Amino acid sequence: MARQDRARVLVLHGPNLNLLGQREPQIYGSTTLAEIDAMLVKLGQELGVEVETYQSNLEGELVTKVQEARGQYAALIVNAGAYTHTSIALFDALLAVGLPVVEVHLSNLYKREPFRHHSYIARAAVGQICGFGAESYLLGLRAAVGLINKA
Ligand code: DQA
Repeated sequence: MARQDRARVLVLHGPNLNLLGQREPQIYGSTTLAEIDAMLVKLGQELGVEVETYQSNLEGELVTKVQEARGQYAALIVNAGAYTHTSIALFDALLAVGLPVVEVHLSNLYKREPFRHHSYIARAAVGQICGFGAESYLLGLRAAVGLINKA
């Protein structure tokens, strides 16, 4: 299939994920965000999809990016960072855009503080993958491609 015919997948990274590699490596691992993005692009090529990635520390920028995804992408992979636990705005944007969403987290939310056990994103997602470090994103991409191929 020609490159321009490939389905596109948008990976959204929320606040503080730009610090991966330096940030609490005992929880989040030593892989940097740039390394994760490169792994996602490479796996996307293997799976026949075009992967784009976007990181922001700002809730409104993430909401705008989700709004703009309509008609541009076949699926979204979202690690909203701490906005996972707080952002009704992001939840509403994901519902509004109507694309299949795979929620991912590096850490296992359910082994951590109680405030991390609730995700607003989860209700807008097909499913959630957490606890596998950087691999969570790669599992998330495989899940997203499975959804695209089924659609
Ligand atoms: C995180 C988990 C969140 O609770 C936290 O605020 C993050 C990262 C994860 O990937 O494990 O920033 O989404």
